[in-house]
Order: sequence, then C-alpha cells, then structure tokens
Amino acid sequence: MTNTQDQAAQTDAQDKVVIFDTTLRDGEQSPGATMTHAEKIEIAGLLDEMGVDIIEAGFPIASEGDFNAVSEIAERSVNSVICGLARAQTGDIDRCWEAVKHAAKPRIHTFIGTSPLHRAIPNLTKDEMAVRIDETVSHARNLCDNVQWSPMDATRTEFDYLCRVIEIAIKAGATTINIPDTVGYTAPRESAELIRKLIAEVPGAQDVIFATHCHNDLGMATANSLAAVEAGARQIECTINGLGERAGNTALEEVVMALRVRNDLMPFQTGIDTRKLMNISRRVATVSGFPVQFNKAIVGKNAFAHESGIHQDGMLKNAETFEIMRPEDVGLSGTSLPLGKHSGRAALRAKLEDLGFEVGDNQLRDVFVRFKELADRKKEVYDDDVVALMRASDDPE
Ligand code: KIV
Ligand code: ZN
Repeated sequence: MTNTQDQAAQTDAQDKVVIFDTTLRDGEQSPGATMTHAEKIEIAGLLDEMGVDIIEAGFPIASEGDFNAVSEIAERSVNSVICGLARAQTGDIDRCWEAVKHAAKPRIHTFIGTSPLHRAIPNLTKDEMAVRIDETVSHARNLCDNVQWSPMDATRTEFDYLCRVIEIAIKAGATTINIPDTVGYTAPRESAELIRKLIAEVPGAQDVIFATHCHNDLGMATANSLAAVEAGARQIECTINGLGERAGNTALEEVVMALRVRNDLMPFQTGIDTRKLMNISRRVATVSGFPVQFNKAIVGKNAFAHESGIHQDGMLKNAETFEIMRPEDVGLSGTSLPLGKHSGRAALRAKLEDLGFEVGDNQLRDVFVRFKELADRKKEVYDDDVVALMRASDDPE
C-alpha cells in the first residue's frame, strides 16, 4: 500500500493506541532541557490541540515550579487526560493529586524501581516492596479513578516478580500498567515477548491497559514500542523529537507516522492530527534548546529534501518515487529540492521556472555549466545564486 492510500485504509474497527506524551516530564528531565512555566503551558496546549490522549505534565513533588505548571496545565486542559508523576510514597501521591485534580480528566502515575538494582536503592526486600506497591496504589486509587502504575526497569526485573507486583497493582486499583524499558536495553523481539507473556499470565491483565515506555539508548525505542503494540500494548509513552534522558525516549512523531504509513502491517489508529507535528517539533526544539538533527525521521530538515540529480528527477516526475509520506501530512508545505553539486538539469530547470525564468535548451546548458562550477564551491546554491547565474547568462559581458 502506498502513502496516498494509507489513511483511507484505516477503519473505525481498528484498535486505538493511546498516545501518552511525556515531553514535559521525562523529556524535560534531559540535562539542559528545562522549560519555563509559560513554555510548558504553551507546549501542553499544542499537545492537547494535536490530539494527544494523555499529557504527563510533570512531577509535582519535584519543585514548586513543577507543581504550579502541572496545576495550570490541568486547569487549562481541553481534551487530554492530565497526568502527574509520583514516587511510591503517600506524600508524593497527595501532592500529585493536588496538582492534577483541577483537570476534567486527571490521572495519577506512580512508580517504583522493581529490578534487583533498583530494589537495592531503597533497600527493600521483594516482600517489603510488594507491600509498598499495594499501599501506594490503593492510596492513589482512593484519590483518583484513573491510576497508572509503573515498575521502573521492568525489562530487567525477574519475570516472576514482575508478574507478582503487576497483579498486586491491578488488585489495588491500577487501571493502566506501564512497562518501562528504563535503560533502553531491550530488543524488539523481547519487547513483544514480555508484553505478550504478561498479558497472558498476570491475573486481571485483561481488565487494564498495558503501556510501553521505551528509552533509546540503543536506538531501538521506536521499534520496541511498535513491537509491544503488536503484542497487545495499547498505550505508547513518547516525547516530541524523542527528547528525554540520555539518548531520549520513543519519538512521538515516529510511532504515530509508522502506525499511519504502515497501517497495512500494524492496523491501529491514533487520534493525532499529524499535520501539527512539524510545528510542535519546532516549538519543542526552540524551548528546550535541543535542535533536531537534520536527518531525524519525520521532522528533520532533510526528511523531505532531495539533492541528488536522480532523486530530484524522480521526485519531479512522481513524488512517490522517493517519498513514502506526503510532506503535507506532517505539516510541511511540500518537498524540498535544494540545489547542490549533486543536482541535475531537471531540478535546475524546475527552479528556474519557479523563479519566473523561461529558458531554452541552449541557455539551460550554459547556466547548468556555471551552476555546477558554483555548486562545487558552495554547499547549497540558493535562489539568489540562481538569479545571479541567469543574469550573467543573459548578459555574458
Ligand atoms: O523510564 C522510566 O522508567 C520512567 C518511569 C518513571 C516510568 O520514566
Ligand atoms: Zn522514562
């Protein structure tokens, strides 16, 4: 199936994958990515408008600023569920509830590290941790009907213990169980296998939503998230531009566009208006101070740019030759065909026509020779350069 058919092929009968954005919580935890209060309010508004189902707005116990940002985002939210993060401590959970309770649709997300390495930090035995999970999830559920629980470092937790604590969390009232790959260690086959086995083996698993939360330390976060969805997860946790600790989190724009473009393989819907992706990507890059790499999938400067002659010629004849998505579908006005030393005659002619020049074959041949000379000296040949080449060709003296 081609990109022009993908959207039409989606039907209402498809399962929905809930998009949980944590740009303002896990994303902001990137060293140096701190955002101001006003910037957080703006980004939350854009996420809400774009159709993000759940916005994790911050970690209310972390600071007065985080608490205030989560409270205001909760008050202003229109469609999205507003979620706050809390450690497995009643004080954290109470503070979180104080912030999110203003939302029309609030959620408390509480977590504790369950792997051997993480259990060693608070120095809790498996049994002591199990009791703590029961108490804190019950406490959260007494405050809020919508409770998410995460066993941090789930992918390095003993499988039997993971099943045990998930069962406890479900019985205590968790409505979403999130499975974090906290250190980005998992590979796609394992990610799928873990979700499939948990859903099959944990009593009560059928009554809750399983979520996937992947970090990108080995560059596999998007693949791991999609593999988890194919195995039964119905919530993807992600961030704009993949912002997040170390190598970042799953990139929202990547999973959303993968589910859309490869809907033939992964027949799931999201509620995201993909035409808003580029704008929000640029705003997050600006406010976080983390520029988007040029070749970043979906939102990178070069994601819809073609410089080489063969590619430009193909694109001018049929855009599907080298593009699997329409640039308009992610919020761009069109494909870009930058002129450089790899460009061919067809792209130069198209550029000249765009700029209002009519050129015959002889003149094109002449300008093309000069263009190549220039392109050998410059990384990119801009519109002004092309105009200058034309002027020189009209008036060779
Ligand atoms: O990566 C992680 O484990 C987290 C949890 C707090 C969910 O961000
Ligand atoms: Zn995380």
